[in-house]
Amino acid sequence: MTARGNRDRGHLARPRDAGGTLAVRVRPFVVAIDGPAASGKGTLARCLAERFSFAHLDSGKLYRATALLVLAAGADPADPDAAVAGARRISPAALGDPRLTSEAVARASSILSALPAVRAELLTMQRDFAAHPPVLAGDVTPRGAVIDGRDIGTVVCPDAAVKLFVTASPAMRAERRVKELRERGAPAIYGDVLRDMKERDARDSLRRVAPLAAAPDAVTIDTTGLDAGQVFEQASDIIARALAAHRL
Ligand code: DC
Repeated sequence: MTARGNRDRGHLARPRDAGGTLAVRVRPFVVAIDGPAASGKGTLARCLAERFSFAHLDSGKLYRATALLVLAAGADPADPDAAVAGARRISPAALGDPRLTSEAVARASSILSALPAVRAELLTMQRDFAAHPPVLAGDVTPRGAVIDGRDIGTVVCPDAAVKLFVTASPAMRAERRVKELRERGAPAIYGDVLRDMKERDARDSLRRVAPLAAAPDAVTIDTTGLDAGQVFEQASDIIARALAAHRL
């Protein structure tokens, strides 16, 4: 993907309204960021949202909140009815629950994210966010939205202005996850974290519906050996060029 490619795709749709006149509908500028667990996509998305005044949605939180609600109800995350019921009960409180970061919730969210009915339920929420990015703190109108996940560029927002695929070697990602867990005071054994991560990668990549994948027009950023600042600079350049191409 290049910034010039985006200009051609055009973010101005000109549908005819019921009266037959030409109405101009401006689609929000969307940045889609996909990648495996602990690739650094979440941190990147948060920093980009701040830098460019985008509304940010961490779509993994929707799956995690669903998993938390299913586990709290004593249900099986692989049970489609229980999982869909959980997805329908997502609330702002559930999205802010500190237990979302636990490994049990991560595992359960990966399991229920393979269920087509759960994905369909959460797809609507994500597309609503992209179409109507919420007002930012301080009543600031966002310039667009940045959404990170596994299928944002491929399924949720296939027309996103910018698509990034952020990845890193499994060893590097496991190392980062161990550091993060230990900083939170949670016990972490490198070998266990690496094994869990590979298991989750396989489940996320091999599922039939909306597997983890780079969109053909995504820019891949391999963060192995890069620090968060270097990744941020690379991504910022791409977005700044795309914004300029869209005269935003
Ligand atoms: O990004 P994360 O680790 O918070 O995501 C938790 C799980 O949710 C992950 O294992 C796969 C799933 N997920 C998904 O299937 N699609 C997304 N867009 C985001 C997350």
